[in-house]
Amino acid sequence: MDTITFPTTEQLSKMQTPCYYYDMALLQQTLDAIRQEVEQYEHFDVHYAVKANANPRVLSAISGAGLGADCVSGGEIKAAIEAGFPADKVVFAGVGKADWEIRLGLEHDIYCFNVESVPELEVINQLAAEAGKMARVAFRINPDVGAHTHANITTGLAENKFGISMRDMETVIRLAQQMEHVTFMGLHFHIGSQILEMDDFVALSHRINELQDRLEAVGITVPNINVGGGLGIDYQCPELFPVPNFKAYFATYAHHLKLRKGQHLHFELGRSVVGQCGMLISRVLYMKQGTNKQFAILDAGMTDLIRPALYQAHHAIRNLTSDEPASTYDVVGPICESSDVFEKDVVLPGVRRGDYFALLSAGAYGEIMASRYNCRALPGSYYSE
Ligand code: LLP
Repeated sequence: MDTITFPTTEQLSKMQTPCYYYDMALLQQTLDAIRQEVEQYEHFDVHYAVKANANPRVLSAISGAGLGADCVSGGEIKAAIEAGFPADKVVFAGVGKADWEIRLGLEHDIYCFNVESVPELEVINQLAAEAGKMARVAFRINPDVGAHTHANITTGLAENKFGISMRDMETVIRLAQQMEHVTFMGLHFHIGSQILEMDDFVALSHRINELQDRLEAVGITVPNINVGGGLGIDYQCPELFPVPNFKAYFATYAHHLKLRKGQHLHFELGRSVVGQCGMLISRVLYMKQGTNKQFAILDAGMTDLIRPALYQAHHAIRNLTSDEPASTYDVVGPICESSDVFEKDVVLPGVRRGDYFALLSAGAYGEIMASRYNCRALPGSYYSE
């Protein structure tokens, strides 16, 4: 049975808080679950979206499991290669790739550039010519498919800055086919993040089927399809569902997306790979009695985990060191911003100064989004093994 394992009292006493704690056994179970599903399908290639968490230990566990890497910056390409991801499994996306980042990708001969505009394609062709190389490119197409998720993390709608419109798709592919230093590798999509309704992926599959029919009718063959990432995790009951439903996810695409003969289907999963294996550990600095509320003031704040402040995201909070009778608290951080609140009206076992708290489901977009605002130190990290 898959479970989240909390740090022991002894482990807690050695930690410098605030910090991240990674359950490496759960990460391994998650990677095993992915492998078990993917093995059933002949042409499925899974890349890990490095943006979710680039902690070196986490990255090497993932590269060790044989996944590729989806990178969005030169820094991520470097981190992925250092962690052992083979360059021929690295894809590089992003609307604003700088010249040095494109050159870095070319130097390493990465698998593919996911291109988001014609000006970018022209620069890649030119830099590849200068380097005497061929750049493999896929086009990110904006499929105009909405996802049932937070507005800040939906990306597939027509008005987003991402991708090339479906209308321009054919022209852009033809342009690439005429260029001397790029090879057309396929189409790339991504409709958003934290998606739990498989119907959203069904809608994307149908749209891709339509586009493929349209391209085939004009004689264009697409060697690869990349459907991006987006599979969500259970932020409400992480202990009950620590491993996402990869079975349903991969089966949805296998069922609805019509792959052509020999065509590969690529995935870029971030949150679903690492989300549940990480927690933010923090200590209670002060208990403060307000007029109508009790505040538990933590040593962790929005600089350590920004998701609640930025997306009103819920991270389950556990008091690891109390079995006192429960009470209701607003759990807040020490930062000078009124949005520095992890959650209001949380029922927790009686809180005292010095208690250790865990904020769960913080393995994805947690440590990596930490900042030094207020001149705070970045949170450190500890591992279960
Ligand atoms: N591929 C592309 C092109 C992406 O833009 C993203 C995420 C992924 C893959 C990975 O998506 P995932 O499997 O993790 O959903 N900071 C936000 C999430 C931003 C996601 C950005 N793109 C959060 O904390 O919820």
